Amino acid sequence: MLDFRINEQNCIHCGQCVADCTASIISMEQGGYPFIPVEKEARCIACQHCLAICPTASVSIFGLDPANSRSLVGGFPDPDNLEILMKGRRSVRRYKSENLDPELLERLLEVAWHAPTGVNSRQVCFTVLDSKEKVAQLRDEVIAGLAGLVKQNALPQGMEFFANFVQVWEERQTDVIFRGAPHLLIASAPAKVASPMPDCLIALSYFELFAQANGIGTVWNGLAKWAINDLVPETRHLLGISDDHVIGYVMAFGKPAVHYFRTVQHAPALINRPL
Ligand SMILES: Cc1cc2nc3c(=O)[nH]c(=O)nc-3n(C[C@H](O)[C@H](O)[C@H](O)COP(=O)(O)O)c2cc1C
Repeated sequence: MLDFRINEQNCIHCGQCVADCTASIISMEQGGYPFIPVEKEARCIACQHCLAICPTASVSIFGLDPANSRSLVGGFPDPDNLEILMKGRRSVRRYKSENLDPELLERLLEVAWHAPTGVNSRQVCFTVLDSKEKVAQLRDEVIAGLAGLVKQNALPQGMEFFANFVQVWEERQTDVIFRGAPHLLIASAPAKVASPMPDCLIALSYFELFAQANGIGTVWNGLAKWAINDLVPETRHLLGISDDHVIGYVMAFGKPAVHYFRTVQHAPALINRPL
C-alpha cells in the first residue's frame, strides 16, 4: 500500500527515518534496512518525513523518487529578507486591470499547497477565479444578491453596512467588496477534517507571502467571505464549492497598482509570559 522502498546500495543504516517517523511505524533491526510492518501501514499519515530526512536519498514511499524533491542544501532564504517580506507585505487595495500569467498563478497555488494541514489531511481546496472577467461575473452576482436584500430590508443585523457597498457600486462602480482585484482565491476544506479552518488560513498565509515575494498584491477579503458565505450563499454554487466544505477565507489578488516604499511601524508585540 505505501510502497516503502529502501535503496540498499545507498542506505547507511543511520536510523533517521525510524527516529523521525511521525507515526513511529518504521522499524530497523541491527544492521538491517528500515521497513514498515504491513499491520502498521494504515497508521502512516503520508507526511513523507522518511523521504525528506534520508541523508543519502535512499528512501522512497508512494513510488516517489527522492531525486525529484527540491534539495535543501544551501538552505532557506536569508532571515533578513524573509523579515522584510513578512513586515513589508501590505494589504493591496488597488490593482491593475490585468490577468496574471497562468504559469505564475499555477506556481503560487502549488507552493501554497505545501502548507501544513492538521494530521496531514491535505484536503484544502483552492477555488480560484483566474481572470478579471470571472471576478466581474461573481461581483455582479454578489451585488445583485445584496441589492435584493437591501430592497427587502433583509440584510442581517450588523451587516447593514453592505447597503453602502451596493450604492457605491451602482453610483460610481467603486468595488469596495473585491477591491477591483482581477483574481480571487477561496480556500475551503471538508468540515469533517481535523482542522478545516486553520488549514485554510495557513494555506492562504502561504499563498499571500509567496505571492507578495513575486510582486503580486493580495488582500484578505472578509467582506467577500461574508458576502459569499453568509449573505448571498447562492454564489457558493456558482463557484462550485462543495456543500460539505467550510469556507476558510477569501483572498483577492493581482498585479498591484500601488508600491510601498517602507514598512509600517507597529507598537511592540503583545506578549504574555506567565510564571
Ligand atoms: C481576516 C482579515 C480580513 C480582512 N478583510 C478585509 C476586507 O474585506 N477588505 C479589505 O480591504 N481589507 C481586509 N483586511 C485587511 C486588513 O484591513 C489589513 O490587514 C489591516 O488593515 C493591516 O494592513 P496591512 O495588511 O497592510 O498590514 C482583512 C484582514 C484580515 C486579516
